[in-house]
Amino acid sequence: MNALWVAPVMPDYDSARATFSWRRERSRLAGLPDGGINIGYETVDRHLREGHGERVALRCVGRDGSLQTMTFAQLAAASSRFAHVLEALGLERGERVFTLLGRRFELYSTVLGTLRAGRVLCPLFTAFGPEPVALRMELGNARALVTTRELYERKVAPVRSRLPHLRHVLLLDPGADPPPDTLSFPALTDAAPDEYTVGSTDPAEPALLHFTSGTTGTPKGAVHVHEAVLAHHVTAAYALDLHEGDVFWCTADPGWVTGMSYGIIAPLTHGVTTVVDEGDFAPARWYGILADQRVTVWYTAPTALRMLMRAVPRDGKPTPAAWHDLSALRFVASVGEPLSPEAVHWGREALGRAVHDTWWQTETGAIMIANFAADPVRPGAMGRPLPGVEAAVVACGEDGRAAVTGGHVQILQEPGAQGELALQAGWPSMFRGYLHEPHRYEACFADGWCLTGDLVSRDADGWYWFVGRADDVIESAGHLIGPFEVESALMEHPAVAEAGVVGRPDPLAGAIVKAFVLPRPEYPPDTELRRDVLAFARRRLGPAVAPREIEFVESLPHTHCGMVMRRLLRARELGLPEGDVSTLETPGPAETTGHSGKEP
Ligand code: WT7
Repeated sequence: MNALWVAPVMPDYDSARATFSWRRERSRLAGLPDGGINIGYETVDRHLREGHGERVALRCVGRDGSLQTMTFAQLAAASSRFAHVLEALGLERGERVFTLLGRRFELYSTVLGTLRAGRVLCPLFTAFGPEPVALRMELGNARALVTTRELYERKVAPVRSRLPHLRHVLLLDPGADPPPDTLSFPALTDAAPDEYTVGSTDPAEPALLHFTSGTTGTPKGAVHVHEAVLAHHVTAAYALDLHEGDVFWCTADPGWVTGMSYGIIAPLTHGVTTVVDEGDFAPARWYGILADQRVTVWYTAPTALRMLMRAVPRDGKPTPAAWHDLSALRFVASVGEPLSPEAVHWGREALGRAVHDTWWQTETGAIMIANFAADPVRPGAMGRPLPGVEAAVVACGEDGRAAVTGGHVQILQEPGAQGELALQAGWPSMFRGYLHEPHRYEACFADGWCLTGDLVSRDADGWYWFVGRADDVIESAGHLIGPFEVESALMEHPAVAEAGVVGRPDPLAGAIVKAFVLPRPEYPPDTELRRDVLAFARRRLGPAVAPREIEFVESLPHTHCGMVMRRLLRARELGLPEGDVSTLETPGPAETTGHSGKEP
């Protein structure tokens, strides 16, 4: 037992599971005086009421290494000003505020001001191009947007005419000659009062909107409600072992659900200090932050760990721990993609801590399955369900998705059996809808279970093991990319007759986006065309979504109903023999199984 040792929040899994109840856990929240729940209140107001306003909420490491801090009292004041601005602009409760911002203080005041004011926040990823940005703002009826001048001019101004709902664009740095139809964030917030009283908020009122990608159709806007904060708070304690006094660093981008649930909300509800890195990934920078900021709990992603594993130490010393003082680090966890046993072992050697895998998704809002602090990590396993979460492996039909017969699913009990991961509906951070798409939402549920679209198995001790996704969604560097969105953008290029987009396995990112393109006959499929189509896609989609590789083909395989068979493209890419492939492509007998998967 070393000096770092503190008792895990959950010392014994079985007894915690046996006695857990969400209703009882609710006493961990402050709650609004009238019994409601508001996420913004739990992150800010409660700490002021409890006399902790002077604690450091955020410690921001600038690109140049400079350090700035913000206390809970300052965060309360800044978010109050933004809440007043929203009211003054006439935004109604429930209307949506979008952010297109990197990690900086104004992001936090915008998010928390929006939540405290009962408006709904939707974060966008800054590496999206104009097309994904416009599509999501269109689908989400964005009323207000907070961004920088540079991002606005590059990504929003060109598509603004498509966004009639977008009334207010607030720029952090409008400059002397601001673009037309924009407002100054600093001017508006400077003039606003710095105290705001959170109004009564129903626990079931929408708070957050997160877009996620499916196999087909447009991105899906997963709606989360204020009572989700109970799950954010509880899982940060149970799965991330967050204690009072911790210094917490979540490396996820705030444009995605991890960056929101665990980069902003969960640590702030615990009153701990959150490290915010304005800069980009670089091994020396990251080790430096872990060491200099004395990070105690670190939540990161397998892609980042793989990049660190490959980084050669500057001075040739064998492990980072040997040239950076990581002695403060107590708990390391990861999420977003499979965590290889190799990465778990590397963590033990290089960081002095095993990496704890956790599993969840945009729709679950919070961690559902985890390797817990009190248990030895099982390398390669996602872990066991959180107390309060019931998971199961459900038998799949021939289409590879959970088979629903007469409204029922079949739960597989035998250890090692493979099927779709299902979660019993009803935990507080469960998504409450896909915006404007009730049918797509309903298709995620059967028999009281929420079907996740992931294939897993469970071992005899109840640990879950990731097998793969049941759909065609591409998982690249921990982000989901919808092949349909990429195919649609490619097909707008005049030379592209048709495109099929798949993930090509990549040792670093897990997968990269690869497009098989059928060119129109009048365009010779040469290097020049390839370069042109790649650049076209990159301009529209941005670096996070655009294909990295294009292969011209003379034909694309289709299903009997005319859809491009991405599975076949994937199998070819992997060099699987044709014999194996043909079985992959038998269309699922949807009628006989009464399949009720997420995607048609
Ligand atoms: C999908 C969800 C909320 C997490 C960030 C991404 C995959 C997530 C793991 C894991 C293997 C994982 C699943 C899941 N995934 N965690 N520990 N091992 N795969 O949220 O963008 O909604 O993606 O990421 O396929 O369904 P998301």
